[in-house]
Amino acid sequence: MSKLAIDGGAPQRSLPFPSWPQWDEHEEQALLTTLHSGGWWAPGGSQVHSFEEEFAAYQDARYGVAVTNGSAALEVCLRAAGIDWGDEVITTPYTFIATANSCLLVGTVPRFTDVLPETWNMNPEQIEALITPRTKAIMPVHIAGEPADLDAICTIARKHNLLVIEDACQAHGAIWNGRKVGAIGDMGCFSFQASKNITGGEGGMIVSNDEAWADRCWSVQNVGRQRGKAWYFHPVLASNYRLAEWQGAILRVQLTRIEEQTARRSANAAYLAEALSQVAGLTPTRPDPRVTRGANHLFRLWYNPDAFGGRPTPEFVKAMNAEGIPITMGYPEPLSESPVIVNRIAVMCRKLGLAVPAQPPCPVTTEIGKRGLWLHQAVLLGSTHDMDDIAAAAVKIQRVWAS
Ligand SMILES: Cc1ncc(COP(=O)(O)O)c(C=O)c1O
Repeated sequence: MSKLAIDGGAPQRSLPFPSWPQWDEHEEQALLTTLHSGGWWAPGGSQVHSFEEEFAAYQDARYGVAVTNGSAALEVCLRAAGIDWGDEVITTPYTFIATANSCLLVGTVPRFTDVLPETWNMNPEQIEALITPRTKAIMPVHIAGEPADLDAICTIARKHNLLVIEDACQAHGAIWNGRKVGAIGDMGCFSFQASKNITGGEGGMIVSNDEAWADRCWSVQNVGRQRGKAWYFHPVLASNYRLAEWQGAILRVQLTRIEEQTARRSANAAYLAEALSQVAGLTPTRPDPRVTRGANHLFRLWYNPDAFGGRPTPEFVKAMNAEGIPITMGYPEPLSESPVIVNRIAVMCRKLGLAVPAQPPCPVTTEIGKRGLWLHQAVLLGSTHDMDDIAAAAVKIQRVWAS
């Protein structure tokens, strides 16, 4: 039996997985062209505007509004929709904190369903119980780039006259039931932060099929101006969330690679899921059959300590890392239990004279926090041999710990 790397043995692999971000002379040229053009600012340039059109078209949407980052995209949508103090938005507790923060930062109370154990996406069956007269929108997150059940979510939203704001920050190129995500709901938000499947270092985009929503978002990202009106006419109270031309220029080049990279991630994710299904105690998430294509921003799996001699998840992560596999644990707790969110909801409700809404427990999300694992999308840009190494490292650890 091979000695584990964590115990001083040779690691399963010593070569690194593909690095991220990936770029070549095309990004370099785009940056230099922007530099020499002297047009560094989106209102006076063409890069951000072209990227808005190209990215919206890529996501099967009519309109795109670029913003500084994904967090800003969510906040701009809420402000554009007039979602305000004391309103409520129903979302998922298993997401990056920005999803819930965007609600709180506009004075709105996030309410949380639990997630489904197979997909880790919001459980649509729990939405209706959370709807109150103050509910204004549902904010599903396509976690890890895997679309949430937009059929059920949009049906509930229509029935109760609620908006759907998709948090597609991890879901570039993801397809639900034959349509790209983002503009299936009323508005959708993307992030181009450093880890994302295309990146400008930072950056964000709102997409929509509705010109009125796009115009309102444009206004909110541009200090309350109105398209086509005088430059110093600011009828809407808003801040500056504009993207710079550098990012637009880089993101246009990144977009040219996304299809090939998404295909590679999909093929490797399917291969890895099959390889790991042979390892007792490791269970990859299972996409909803209506998902045409996930973005595979993260490859996710459940870890069962019983199959690994009872060793807890952090120990497995350390052992895998020592074997050269960059696996991590993900979000540690449901956002419904995050102290900063719980406290803010309490303070806000007190100031607004509202009762603090009761939050049902989220046992599935709690369990994911304890036993959920992630591999980042860049790992999925490797070869099938790289995927074999991941499964082989897990088998090696299991042989030692479960013997
Ligand atoms: C699901 C989700 N929502 C929102 C965001 C916020 O995006 P950004 O980091 O660009 O502000 C992220 C980014 O990490 C995310 O993953």
